[in-house]
Amino acid sequence: MNETTSDHPAAEPAAVPAHVAIVMDGNGRWARQRGLPRTAGHRAGAKSVRAVVEECLRRGVAVLTVFAFSSENWRRPQAEIYVLTELFMTTLRVELRRMIEHDVRLRIIGDLSPFSSKLQQLVTEAESATQHNQALTLQVAINYGGRWDVTQAVRRLLSEVNEGTLALDVVDESALAARLVGADLPDPDLLIRTGGEKRLSNFLLWQAAYSELYFSDLMWPEFDADALALALTDFARRQRRFGQTSEQIRARHSSVMEPS
Ligand code: IPE
Ligand code: IPE
Ligand code: MG
Repeated sequence: MNETTSDHPAAEPAAVPAHVAIVMDGNGRWARQRGLPRTAGHRAGAKSVRAVVEECLRRGVAVLTVFAFSSENWRRPQAEIYVLTELFMTTLRVELRRMIEHDVRLRIIGDLSPFSSKLQQLVTEAESATQHNQALTLQVAINYGGRWDVTQAVRRLLSEVNEGTLALDVVDESALAARLVGADLPDPDLLIRTGGEKRLSNFLLWQAAYSELYFSDLMWPEFDADALALALTDFARRQRRFGQTSEQIRARHSSVMEPS
């Protein structure tokens, strides 16, 4: 069997993850611990996003994906959902200039159809104003669910097969992966969840198949550049094997390191 057929780009240790994904959890508890309404936690959490984006830029992370609102978060009280959508729009307006200055490309992933046309228009404008930026791609997941993502990819595959533009016998893992949102970007190398819970909560289910997982007990509003630096240090120490043995990884790494 050919051992180099893996789709994974590098089994050697990569010092800096190309793609960091974050489940930004703990806003509500952070606020409650301080006797504040949950929504105060969401406002404080927006500041952490800025700090983490800036640290990613300093470290050379190419893609940052943050989970801001899940497809299950519609189950929350209406008033909280309202504050979250208003906060999203305000933050987008305020941060757009800063994103342009810092060469950040913004993308929103998720099903935006239930949101107001005002929100959708703001997203379209912000995405097009930043589309040529290159220092960092910031993906914000809103009304996103990993199951929704796989389902919409399957629907696209089925409709292409129906229309006759895609043959059923070429439908394989890469055909499905190519129809997921953000398919032009690498899969997350490092997936962080703050707030102490150890679950994915329907985040990037397919794309996280080989992500390194990192759980922080800090609530999201407490997560700052130093906390991200700790996660990146932890990541740099890990050996990613993608199914191979440690010996194979070491052998490959030392052959890469040998002077030619
Ligand atoms: C994460 O913080 C933000 C969203 C899910 C919108 P939470 O609001 O889930 O905070 P906790 O988990 O209740 O503390
Ligand atoms: C996950 O957090 C979603 C986001 C951070 C946007 P939740 O707080 O919704 O997750 P559960 O409900 O505790 O699993
Ligand atoms: Mg939560």
